[in-house]
Amino acid sequence: MILPILHYPDVRLRTVAKPVETVDDTIKTLVKDMFETMYQAPGIGLAATQIDHHQRIIVIDISDEKNQPLCLINPEIIEKDGEIDWEEGCLSVPDYYQCVKRANHIKVRALNQQGKTFEIEADELLGVCIQHEIDHLDGILFIDHLSKLKQKRLLEKTKKVIKY
Ligand code: NI
Repeated sequence: MILPILHYPDVRLRTVAKPVETVDDTIKTLVKDMFETMYQAPGIGLAATQIDHHQRIIVIDISDEKNQPLCLINPEIIEKDGEIDWEEGCLSVPDYYQCVKRANHIKVRALNQQGKTFEIEADELLGVCIQHEIDHLDGILFIDHLSKLKQKRLLEKTKKVIKY
């Protein structure tokens, strides 16, 4: 099922998501719907927050063929080092791209969609994408990392488009 994606400046994007306690059938169905929604958008990552569901779940697929689905439940960054500038976009902030500074290399611990703990090391696009999606679970958008001036311009542009 394709789920509607919240758009900035919707305040629900600011919700801090709660950990998943049990990876049960409800969660598995949600993960399936999140992948479907992400692929259809199309996007390379989606956090549950973006579909107004406030549990710590993210789905990612950075492959060109869209055949490498990665699901992280309750993800935790356990190591990070280096620094990288990467141009980011977001399904919740359509048609807007800016460079953001992130850790270049991260190690993440999470549960997979079967509820099993695993660890993954990531850098460049995948590392950036995981950091971007974990931010969503904490109510943070990539634009929060930009200068106040850029944020103000974006908000003005957005208000014009949706005509408050
Ligand atoms: Ni995003």
